[in-house]
Amino acid sequence: MTFLVALDHWEVELWTERFRSALPGRRVVALGDAFDPAEIRYAASWKHPPGALAGMPGLRAIFSLGAGVDHLFADPHVPPVPIARVVDPDLTNRMSEYVLLHCLAHLRQSRRYEAQQRERAWADDRDQPAAREVGVGVMGMGELGRDAARKLGLVGFDVAGWARTRRLGAPPGAPLFVGEAERPAFLARSDILVVLLPLTPDTRGVIDLALLRGLRRDGRLGGPVLVNAGRGGLQVAGDILAALEEGSLGAAVLDVFEREPLPPDSPMWSHPRVTVTPHNAALSAPEAVGRLIAEQVARMERGEAPLGLVDRSRGY
Ligand code: NDP
Ligand code: OXD
Repeated sequence: MTFLVALDHWEVELWTERFRSALPGRRVVALGDAFDPAEIRYAASWKHPPGALAGMPGLRAIFSLGAGVDHLFADPHVPPVPIARVVDPDLTNRMSEYVLLHCLAHLRQSRRYEAQQRERAWADDRDQPAAREVGVGVMGMGELGRDAARKLGLVGFDVAGWARTRRLGAPPGAPLFVGEAERPAFLARSDILVVLLPLTPDTRGVIDLALLRGLRRDGRLGGPVLVNAGRGGLQVAGDILAALEEGSLGAAVLDVFEREPLPPDSPMWSHPRVTVTPHNAALSAPEAVGRLIAEQVARMERGEAPLGLVDRSRGY
């Protein structure tokens, strides 16, 4: 069996080497290498060029190198074989670290104290809200959302979740809101909105001005905070800027953007209340992901289904 590493630009050699060591005795090739398309049994992809996986009659599965699969569905020629994504504690922990970091930074007003330090200003400030006074709403109660919600709850935040269905539930103590009908109540209790949704036709543009205006305005943070680590296509960038301008949003932490890398002339870079990170809230560590995908191949060779299968009809 031959394993194909289908990456456009993303550290091809590093991943090819990683799969060679994770799959000893197997042939591992990258796009651009000489190979017969008929020999490919498995492909690992991150943003492969559209059509690059077509015409491989022996292909048995595609493994996304990330948790998200919107990059695969962006290719109209992606073959109709099972797609499995990264569901792994290494990636999940990284995302929860990111969410905790930014929720705590806003709870503890770290930007303000950094500015005060630069000014050598000792503000004897007694107005520190407690975590329990701050509602954190997590949009998306999947692998990542549930872990982040659980850890936010351990820190003491007043956490709630929002999802499409009740199938996965929410961590103990966190109310779960479902669908459009329950969204207003979910938003109205959220001082911090953490977005960990997949990008699908249903979720594209969901973070718009109307949604942001629904967040709790009179909470202990002095204005609601948006943390989007899902996908850039979930947010309407102009609406985030408008919400910051009109005061319906206090601050935003954005890891993902419609266009990445974020262009140098984007107003997000210099906005005083926006934190930009370069789509690395939860990176796919080659060691962990190489091990996971080697286990997935072993499962399939034993006749078992791979874990983390994607439902094509849902798009995630
Ligand atoms: P999952 O598939 O496990 O969970 C998705 C969740 O979103 C589910 O709870 C699902 O609801 C909910 N959802 C999907 N569509 C809708 C909808 N239309 N309305 C309401 N809820 C909806 O995904 P993961 O938790 O593993 O990952 C989430 C996303 O995080 C990835 O798709 C990716 O885009 C992003 N990501 C970003 C990274 C980064 O570094 N910035 C790293 C890794 C992932 P239900 O439970 O009913 O199915
Ligand atoms: C992912 C990502 O989907 O890194 O894993 O964005």
